[in-house]
Amino acid sequence: MTSEDKPPTTKFENVASLMISCLGLLLIVTTVNLACASCQLNSTRVTEIADQLETLAPIDDPSLVAASPQSLLARAGFKYEVYNITTDDGYILQLIHIINPLVSRNNLRRLPVLMQCPLLVTSGIFLAPSLDETQPVAYPSNNQPLSDNPREWTSSNRSLALFLANNGFDMWLGCNRGCDANNMGLDETKASPRARANYYSYSIDDFARFDLSANVDGVLNKTGAKKLLQVGFSQGTLISFMRLATTDIANDTFSSKIHTFVAMAPVAGRMSLSPLQLPLRAVVAAIYPVLYPIFLNNPVLTPELSRLVITVTLSLYENLPGGEAIIQLIGSLLGGPSLNMQFDRVIVGQVPLNGHGNQLAHFAQLIMINQAAKFDYGPIENLQRYNNSLVTPKYDFTKIRLNQSIALFAGTNDALAPLDNVGYLRSVLQNNVFYQKTIEGYNHFDFSIARDNYQQVNKPILDLLIDRLAKVQ
Ligand SMILES: *[C@@H]1O[C@H](CO)[C@@H](O)[C@H](O)[C@H]1NC(C)=O
Ligand SMILES: *[C@@H]1O[C@H](CO)[C@@H](O)[C@H](O)[C@H]1NC(C)=O
Ligand SMILES: *[C@@H]1O[C@H](CO)[C@@H](O)[C@H](O)[C@H]1NC(C)=O
Ligand SMILES: *[C@@H]1O[C@H](CO)[C@@H](O)[C@H](O)[C@H]1NC(C)=O
Ligand SMILES: *[C@@H]1O[C@H](CO)[C@@H](O)[C@H](O)[C@H]1NC(C)=O
Ligand SMILES: *[C@@H]1O[C@H](CO)[C@@H](O)[C@H](O)[C@H]1NC(C)=O
Repeated sequence: MTSEDKPPTTKFENVASLMISCLGLLLIVTTVNLACASCQLNSTRVTEIADQLETLAPIDDPSLVAASPQSLLARAGFKYEVYNITTDDGYILQLIHIINPLVSRNNLRRLPVLMQCPLLVTSGIFLAPSLDETQPVAYPSNNQPLSDNPREWTSSNRSLALFLANNGFDMWLGCNRGCDANNMGLDETKASPRARANYYSYSIDDFARFDLSANVDGVLNKTGAKKLLQVGFSQGTLISFMRLATTDIANDTFSSKIHTFVAMAPVAGRMSLSPLQLPLRAVVAAIYPVLYPIFLNNPVLTPELSRLVITVTLSLYENLPGGEAIIQLIGSLLGGPSLNMQFDRVIVGQVPLNGHGNQLAHFAQLIMINQAAKFDYGPIENLQRYNNSLVTPKYDFTKIRLNQSIALFAGTNDALAPLDNVGYLRSVLQNNVFYQKTIEGYNHFDFSIARDNYQQVNKPILDLLIDRLAKVQ
């Protein structure tokens, strides 16, 4: 597989992007404040408000509000298995195995694929795009190859997980602690005192160190495979880079279990000083001291609050003339300017889900120090946790050893994983990277929801994985 490097370009004038990012920040601040106000409400009250809203402005299909990955799979006619896996520190997670009912187990490709999702969504985001036009397809199949004429393309095949499942891959949807609305809880025999004292006392470090390891081991255990193919998106890439760079685990074999790692919109904790990023850092630095005490160890975006916010946006999307344009604008403000995003009600029903206090605070810290580091508890607690160090340890991505096995997919308009962050990653990952593609005009969300993500992302990933599998001994 050859690289497809393109020179980094960005079409947008500095002033325009400055304005856009300021607007975006305003929106973030407002949302966060609203969320905090609602944190003070109890969950029953939030549920009541959501119910009232649904009566006032009915939603076509209320089952789409915060629909679980399982219900999305059932909607598209796929089957699934759910496994309860337990992390080394006692959190119980739900690992979802997608089953294409038209593909026999013996015909599945040789290595399983594990997907890790972004912040503020569940792995439902790998299923939602074009879900209602998607159905199980037999593999091997006699399908004609895709027409070269873009006019003949429909919007189907946009769900990466189902597209791969329709092409013979054994698909698994990973999960971080807190990712499921059911809150699976703790295995008391393994749980740490910290977890027992507060379920929400975790950060992205724990997603990397414990959850990702448990997901990978879970898939290998259930399939009997020795290695797997991994696909991460945004936060799903950050936790992989963190885990791969972790060197203080005795007899660690994690890296040897990853055959290929595909990173979409890769996040390395490093932002640029471009006009898109400077205001973000300034605002985050300003609100951080106020929000930190509220967010610390707090669930923040509870399932009830998610449902309320999604009810409002879905109702807006369906009932308000121009509602769709507003959703498009919000998407461009947050993820970078884009003309590619194609929302539908299944997608709108999936965001925002699942953002917890320390997780959000950790992202704020990464933005402020412009580097991937462990969670900063403040000097006193850092001393206890981090081997007598006042400051938090940094992740050293030059420690990653995945020789010629990482693929990077970046977008020129991505405000959250900007090109110079990807350039930085490329420079530290060095010969770990075997493939890089830069997609013109893509923002952060386009990887999953662009109208042409079949051509730009899904098909290239399929080809790349098939190519990699051909080399498996
Ligand atoms: C997983 O845990 C849930 C909640 O405790 C339980 O209802 C379910 O039966 C468990 N599934 C399996 C396969 O053990
Ligand atoms: C979807 O992908 C299949 C291959 O799995 C291909 O045969 C089909 O033409 C694609 N359809 C569209 C509309 O892109
Ligand atoms: C999976 O884990 C179970 C329980 O630890 C073990 O008995 C089984 O042999 C494992 N399977 C594989 C394929 O590693
Ligand atoms: C690591 O491996 C060594 C040598 O095989 C063994 O003595 C030690 O107990 C192992 N440590 C852990 C934590 O598994
Ligand atoms: C803790 O710090 C000491 C002295 O700086 C060092 O020797 C030791 O390896 C460190 N331990 C860990 C687990 O980082
Ligand atoms: C890395 O992979 C390439 C291509 O597979 C191989 O030629 C090279 O020897 C490997 N390097 C190391 C250090 O393993």
